[in-house]
Amino acid sequence: MNQRIVIPIKDARTQPEWPAAQGATEPAAADGSDRRGRRLRDLRISVTDRCNFRCTYCMPKEVFDSNYAFLPQADLLSFEEITRLARIFHARGVEKVRITGGEPLLRRHIERLIDMLAGIGTLDLTLTTNGSLLARKARALKAAGLERITVSLDSLDDATFRAMNDADYPVARVLEGIDAAAAAGLAPIKVNMVVKRGVNDHDILPMARHFRAAGHILRFIEFMDVGSTNGWRMNDVVPSAEVVARISAEMPLAPVDPSYSGEVAQRWRYVDGSGEIGVISSVTQAFCSDCTRARISTEGKLYTCLFANAGHDLRTLLRTGTSDETISERIGEVWGARTDNYSEIRTEATARERKVEMSYIGG
Ligand code: GTP
Ligand code: 5AD
Ligand code: SF4
Ligand code: SF4
Repeated sequence: MNQRIVIPIKDARTQPEWPAAQGATEPAAADGSDRRGRRLRDLRISVTDRCNFRCTYCMPKEVFDSNYAFLPQADLLSFEEITRLARIFHARGVEKVRITGGEPLLRRHIERLIDMLAGIGTLDLTLTTNGSLLARKARALKAAGLERITVSLDSLDDATFRAMNDADYPVARVLEGIDAAAAAGLAPIKVNMVVKRGVNDHDILPMARHFRAAGHILRFIEFMDVGSTNGWRMNDVVPSAEVVARISAEMPLAPVDPSYSGEVAQRWRYVDGSGEIGVISSVTQAFCSDCTRARISTEGKLYTCLFANAGHDLRTLLRTGTSDETISERIGEVWGARTDNYSEIRTEATARERKVEMSYIGG
């Protein structure tokens, strides 16, 4: 019989109280910044905890198998609830909304949600996808008001791609999705490659050459210890400095200023003017000091860090007649009490602590 593995996909400890209920001693900053002076600028919303891939670094098959209890439909925030929250966050100063998952294009009629969010107004609206359904969806997403898109792709070689995502999709399918997104006018297109030593680091140069020629921005992500199931070890991480050195040896690179304050990726341009890459170095060069991101999980919990182990339940507020004003105040309390800096204090020991899974919280 299949032994059920119990893992902490939902909150690892009980729901934390709202800061005011805990008798928070210090008042929140008047300008809405957190305890480390960081504003709330970006919101990442997970619209499903399901995915058709089983990336070993995110949803390993041994855990996310046919016995795994994904959230029931009724627990998911509806599009109306998501849009209401996005409006409230926007009114609090959020400028960017990124739709994530799981795989967001698996959520039925996702373009309807995009259309509703686009109606909010001056938001940088984007989405991160594994690309497998993008060829079918790109035009509808653009027509609904999506501006740009980020596609995850870890290799150009089918065998390596499969070793990373543990699903039976050809690389060509994702490349078709990227082409369809470009044809639909979703721009700029960014491509995310999680790099794991000994698994796909031999693809760093082929990927760089390919996306430089295609004119898309490739970003190399250091393998992170998100969640509690991906068996993270420091030895598997390829430091971004090494990635930059390897590429620069063949195609010289020069650093570029961030395009906005608190940008996750460090930008590098090819000195011959043929485009740019990015590196995301959460492990070797933590960027917590500028972290302006909040996350809403698929079932409507607010998390102030990707490596948190508990979130604040906004869904109950939404479903019990709470006013926008009170919800906004609650969000302000949580953000005002925030001290998160996980990547600055990461060790092999913290990596083994229980944390919420990325497919649930949204990358
Ligand atoms: P842009 O708006 O294009 O700058 O997007 P982005 O880089 O913020 O978004 P994307 O979804 O492409 O994220 C890239 C990678 O950075 C993913 O692996 C994320 O999990 C990771 N990431 C994003 N925000 C954070 C963060 O606050 N902390 C850490 N540690 N990783 C993050
Ligand atoms: N480490 C680094 N990046 C990860 N992603 C998912 N899991 C991890 C991990 N453990 C990436 C995905 C996607 C982005 C949202 O996060 O590949 O591109
Ligand atoms: Fe799915 Fe993205 Fe996680 Fe891979 S990284 S399993 S594509 S949600
Ligand atoms: Fe922000 Fe947490 Fe990532 Fe640091 S580790 S950058 S606080 S999400």
